[in-house]
Amino acid sequence: MTTKVAIVVGSLRKDSVNRVFAEALGKLARPKLEFHFVEIGDLPLYNQDLEVDLPASVQRFKREIEAADAVLLVTPEFNRSFSAALKNAIEWGTRPWGKNSWAGKPAAIVGATLGVVGTAAGQSQLRSVASVIGLHVIANPEIYLNFREGQVVNGEIADDGLKQLLTGWVDAFADWIKRLRAPALSF
Ligand SMILES: Cc1cc2nc3c(=O)[nH]c(=O)nc-3n(C[C@H](O)[C@H](O)[C@H](O)COP(=O)(O)O)c2cc1C
Repeated sequence: MTTKVAIVVGSLRKDSVNRVFAEALGKLARPKLEFHFVEIGDLPLYNQDLEVDLPASVQRFKREIEAADAVLLVTPEFNRSFSAALKNAIEWGTRPWGKNSWAGKPAAIVGATLGVVGTAAGQSQLRSVASVIGLHVIANPEIYLNFREGQVVNGEIADDGLKQLLTGWVDAFADWIKRLRAPALSF
């Protein structure tokens, strides 16, 4: 049985290095993990007034998160935090009250920047928010990618060291999902 992972990329731009990275990671992860990209660019800015008649884009977003076995958040780092687009999606995922789409999902966080910080500051903030909304985020291995030319070629991870690191990450995340979704033993 395939394990379906909902991927949310926190950058909206067309040439996002986070999206390039996420797509290459998705290829590397198959068939262990099946990535499903959940788009957030069409979500309105969160406004509680909209909850009385939930916009179609929000309904679609929540449905896609709920249909997945696990969640992967891929974030750029903007001003030492994760992106506003991602925070907006997080808000919608938790609402309306009592309908938190994130609750109880195994999750992971990764991110890429063009700088050497590699999203460490942004991921740290995202991790604390993720725990509040009920995601169970894997602790290790952490992936802070300083994105450089040659790491992804023709949509595939091309750097051997990075490939090895990410293969280990895929195994660990697949194992984390399996353990969290295993039915509790009853006596
Ligand atoms: C508004 C803004 C703030 C940024 N702040 C940071 C930062 O705090 N740390 C960092 O490493 N890079 C920062 N960057 C550079 C981004 O890492 C870089 O633009 C990266 O390509 C964004 O990810 P994306 O390609 O997926 O959109 C910033 C970029 C922008 C546009």
